[in-house]
Amino acid sequence: EKGGYKHFMAKEIAEQPVVLADALRHYLPKTGLNLPADLDFSGVDRITLIACGTAHYACAVAKYWFEQFAQIPVEIDVASEFRYREPPLSERSFAVFVSQSGETADTLAALRYCSERVAKTVAVVNVPTSSIAREADIALPILAGVEVGVASTKAFTAQLLVLAVMALKAGNDRGTLSPEQIAAHSDTLLTLPGLMNQALTLSEPIARLAEQLAEAQDILFLGRGPMFPLALEGALKLKEISYIHAEGYASGELKHGPIALIDRMVPVIVMAPHDRLFDKTVSNMQEVMARHGMVLLASDAKGLAVAGEGTWATLQLPEIAEPFAPILYAVPAQLLAYYTAVAKGTDVDQPRNLAKSVTVE
Ligand code: F6R
Repeated sequence: EKGGYKHFMAKEIAEQPVVLADALRHYLPKTGLNLPADLDFSGVDRITLIACGTAHYACAVAKYWFEQFAQIPVEIDVASEFRYREPPLSERSFAVFVSQSGETADTLAALRYCSERVAKTVAVVNVPTSSIAREADIALPILAGVEVGVASTKAFTAQLLVLAVMALKAGNDRGTLSPEQIAAHSDTLLTLPGLMNQALTLSEPIARLAEQLAEAQDILFLGRGPMFPLALEGALKLKEISYIHAEGYASGELKHGPIALIDRMVPVIVMAPHDRLFDKTVSNMQEVMARHGMVLLASDAKGLAVAGEGTWATLQLPEIAEPFAPILYAVPAQLLAYYTAVAKGTDVDQPRNLAKSVTVE
């Protein structure tokens, strides 16, 4: 049932163009944004996004979208911190819970804490019959199909897609995005299956680079803007299946500490599409190169033309409009983790100490 792949994780990474195409057919049909009418953001004063692990990083990306598209203050938190902090909540706010399994104990507890305190609870889940789906006011399935690999891959990009469509709806409901802007962003989302297919062709070069990454003790991931949470996700994926210590940082934080780690032995993976913030990220990257760090730059043709020289390695992604780059760059981040783990010979689908569904806190 691995469909010719060596691991479920490889199969699930490769499935993403089809998974996203399915989710797009549902959430972005020709008639426009397809979300329940009662998911109306017009009177909402705050959005709180709660999850654990990879799902939390999906929320962290979505924060950039909700703020940019809808001008709503957004709070994100890991469920285990949120639930015991017992934070004050506004009756005019929405609380959104993101979970592949829909059974994560801390996320469910956070949902129960919010249910009487906010205007609406929304679940973004893969398992539509799950506890979190059933207990939320509105459940939005991500339509990713069964995910077997413990390391979440296709669920992450499908979560991002649903959150992106929600953020566009929020911009629509609040009049902060024009119909033209919504159409342009929708068009970008619709190109994702094709762009992801192109990104998947990086498997071979990534498998070769992974032979060297597998020798590392520590690996850093850097990103800016919505690419910062993707750097966190890239590091999580790598550490959980290859057991190599990895950290994600906001590029601008480099000089506030982590740059002390840089030497010839530390690979630094920079996820930087040629966007508004590209030059800033490149100057951080050059600080790493000046200290002989091994830089792997993932960017598009424009970015690599400007900044590819002198790096240890480059990966060329297709161009994509700025806010949605994390969905596309998730593919090389997942492939880097996967092939590094394969090179190390670890159990990719069943990493030690981890469970697919964390139903105890
Ligand atoms: C990482 C991973 C975990 C889960 C987390 C939340 O690859 O799989 O970090 O994302 O345990 O699980 P769900 O989404 O089922 O609530």
